[in-house]
Amino acid sequence: MLSRSMKRFLSLHDFEKAAKERLPVPLYAYVSGAVEDEQSINANRSAFRRYAFRPDVLVDVSRIDTSMTLLGKRYVSPAGIAPMGLSSMTSYRGDVAMAVAARKAGALCIMSGSSLIRLEEVMDAAPGTWFQAYLPGRQDQIDALIARVAAAGVETLVLTVDTPVAANRENNIRAGFSTPLRPSLSLAWQGVSHPRWLFGTFIKTLLRHGMPHFENNYATRGAPIMSSNVLRDFSDRGHLNWTHAADVRRQWKGPMVIKGILNPADARRAREMGADAVIVSNHGGRQLDGSVAPLLVLPEIVEAAGSMPVMIDSGVRRGTDVLKALALGAKAAWIGRPFNYAATVGGEAGVSHALKLIHDEIRRDMGLLGVTSLEAIRRDHLADA
Ligand code: FNR
Repeated sequence: MLSRSMKRFLSLHDFEKAAKERLPVPLYAYVSGAVEDEQSINANRSAFRRYAFRPDVLVDVSRIDTSMTLLGKRYVSPAGIAPMGLSSMTSYRGDVAMAVAARKAGALCIMSGSSLIRLEEVMDAAPGTWFQAYLPGRQDQIDALIARVAAAGVETLVLTVDTPVAANRENNIRAGFSTPLRPSLSLAWQGVSHPRWLFGTFIKTLLRHGMPHFENNYATRGAPIMSSNVLRDFSDRGHLNWTHAADVRRQWKGPMVIKGILNPADARRAREMGADAVIVSNHGGRQLDGSVAPLLVLPEIVEAAGSMPVMIDSGVRRGTDVLKALALGAKAAWIGRPFNYAATVGGEAGVSHALKLIHDEIRRDMGLLGVTSLEAIRRDHLADA
């Protein structure tokens, strides 16, 4: 049953406005923001408008199957929740809310390695959730991370590779967001003037779980998010290269996915290294500003990848976006920010509703396109717009 409070959210876009009202300015800026001149975040959306549909008509679409198999598992649809760090700062136990909602729906979900909640807790609450890691800088940390992730029962490991150095998040500085959050009068005022977040997320977390910890699965247990040395161990990653990824491949027995690929040569390298899949992504426009919109390079990467599945994220908001990505050869499409907003406004129920919205859109759009299965979506269903 759809709760009354969710009825007003008719599309993924609708969650953003409500989340913006609810969140302290620095937190909304952290989630919504991108980098520098916002070229990539804007390009991500406009890339989808470069393609238009050529539907087939008079096809029997009375039965439509949106499901698919990926890395040996069956999922209800090709749309999933992308990994987002610090989600439990914007919504109470946000990482758990997202993973549990996805599990109940049979949907894809990747937990971020930069979560404030221990990965073991998320895996217990929602087995089958994929886990995303940034490789820490030292070999012993990498080994410890892989051992811990395996012990937690994770099946699919996603390595994010587009963050060799910290991005230039000017918007975070302007808005007063930092990790760790620096206590200040203005931050306190932001809390007080956003009481639903203050009591529903921050104080509730404090009372039930203590100060949110950045013990995020990198074996640095116990560094409070408000403390001054968070992430210090992890800022020194610039030397990491394909040899490190290959080493992880040797150690990790389950499916391994490389996230953050934007050129065909890297997709080839990932395949040769033994990756099971790649995600074409510019990190939602949050890393190198001016990096190409993933949709535009998807076809050449699909070609280079051969039989290795290729997925996409960055700017996906509609069922039609998902179908365009699939027509260009993607196996699945991941969505970031809207699910964070959905958790912010409605917790697990909000995420469930958001998943239902995108799922219903995919089904409806398949019917309108004249296909009854995802395999039936063809390149020539698209024309240049
Ligand atoms: C991210 N993203 C991200 N990616 C990742 O691999 N690890 C992470 O910890 C995070 N953290 C993160 C936090 C927030 C607030 C956002 C918005 C994004 C990137 C994310 O997985 C995905 O690539 C983009 O969000 C996709 O773009 P859209 O759908 O947000 O446009």
